[in-house]
Amino acid sequence: MKARRMTDRAELIREATEARKNSISPFSKYAVGAALRTRGEKIYRGCNIENSTYGLTICAERVALFTALAAGERDFTSIAVVAPSEAPATPCGACRQVLWEHCGDILVLVASVHGASAEHRLSQLLPNPFEFEGPA
Ligand code: THU
Repeated sequence: MKARRMTDRAELIREATEARKNSISPFSKYAVGAALRTRGEKIYRGCNIENSTYGLTICAERVALFTALAAGERDFTSIAVVAPSEAPATPCGACRQVLWEHCGDILVLVASVHGASAEHRLSQLLPNPFEFEGPA
């Protein structure tokens, strides 16, 4: 792999690691960070924000994406997710669908705070996604 691509990946994982510091996760004690890169090379961070009703909790990935969308961004290339699990944790099903609709087949970098990492294309994580076409 080209050196530039490796440093880009390492940078995105660093950003996601930093994003964990703002996590609000008093219930799970599981701080997740995400960093989403635009085609224009900007990076938007997100962290999980838990709610006392549990079900209203929002994942780090969607916080990063919605922050970027609210800033007017529409074109994305990659996302990194860092979690405190032993093995790297991949985005949940809800995040996969939301990411698919706004980002398409982006690169998904996943890393554990303990060092293990992996990479996927979103289409590998979400085969046959729902695509809304309206009624026939
Ligand atoms: N969580 C994320 O932020 N991203 C994921 O991909 C999976 C789970 C959060 C939600 C909750 O705050 C905590 O991790 C435990 O599920």
